[in-house]
Amino acid sequence: MNQPSTVTAVYFSPTHGTRACARMLAGCFRYDYSEWDLTLPPARRERRRFAPDGLVILAVPVYCGRVPPVPGLLDRLEGNGCAAVITVVYGNRAFDDAALELADLAAARGFVPVAMAALVAPHCYIPEVGEGRPDERDRQAAAAFAAALLKREKQPFTPPGNRPYKPYPALPFLPETIGPCSRCSVCEEVCPTGALRDGVTDPETCLRCMACVRFCPRQCRTVSHPAFTATRDRLAALKTVDHPPVFLF
Ligand SMILES: Cc1cc2nc3c(=O)[nH]c(=O)nc-3n(C[C@H](O)[C@H](O)[C@H](O)COP(=O)(O)O)c2cc1C
Ligand code: SF4
Ligand code: SF4
Repeated sequence: MNQPSTVTAVYFSPTHGTRACARMLAGCFRYDYSEWDLTLPPARRERRRFAPDGLVILAVPVYCGRVPPVPGLLDRLEGNGCAAVITVVYGNRAFDDAALELADLAAARGFVPVAMAALVAPHCYIPEVGEGRPDERDRQAAAAFAAALLKREKQPFTPPGNRPYKPYPALPFLPETIGPCSRCSVCEEVCPTGALRDGVTDPETCLRCMACVRFCPRQCRTVSHPAFTATRDRLAALKTVDHPPVFLF
């Protein structure tokens, strides 16, 4: 690939782990990269065109081994042949079919997937898992990957994974509002799907992304369902597991 005319970090990131990885990776290609944040609904309604000689770092978190089930997540993006580094950010368990699914979605919008990255960030259910990632090792590996990719011809790349993708399970737990809520609306403002209105969470559109829990200034959003406690207990075993960053092209 020639030096891209523009580098854009395009990401969906409710609790900012994906954003940190996308920024880290984009900065390895160009210090003056720009950003397009798809996390909130207004940005997802805006049309965005990319240059055929540009590069996007297209990054999503892995949810249940898949791309988060946000209707129309990439629908307003126009790839125009722009190269895409398919980037999946996961909570130290596994990324399963998410990279393949994201590459398929990107190709359908006119991007050319040329490479992939799978990076660890803190797990939004138990942030001690993946704590401190992305770290210096991730940064150094990302810099080496960027340098190598820029030396190659622009070639389409298919990430590992299976089609049909892993089925997306129903998640029985839901955050709720408890305690001294000041009705400040921060939780509603950070909700990526508009699932939260007047303290009531819509189970159909809630992603269980934890943004409302993370960003409530009074710690009034919580998940008390036993299935969530069981999930956290299971995930705790991943605190000592080390998944190095994965870069493929
Ligand atoms: C509904 C849901 C499902 C998840 N599934 C996985 C998974 O399959 N594998 C994994 O390693 N992490 C999983 N995670 C953890 C996220 O991938 C991880 O916390 C990611 O960094 C969150 O991105 P964000 O900080 O940009 O919101 C899941 C998180 C959520 C909310
Ligand atoms: S962010 Fe917290 S305090 Fe503010 S409205 Fe939401 S639950 Fe209440
Ligand atoms: S209500 Fe659901 S989708 Fe909205 S921020 Fe909270 S967990 Fe995420």
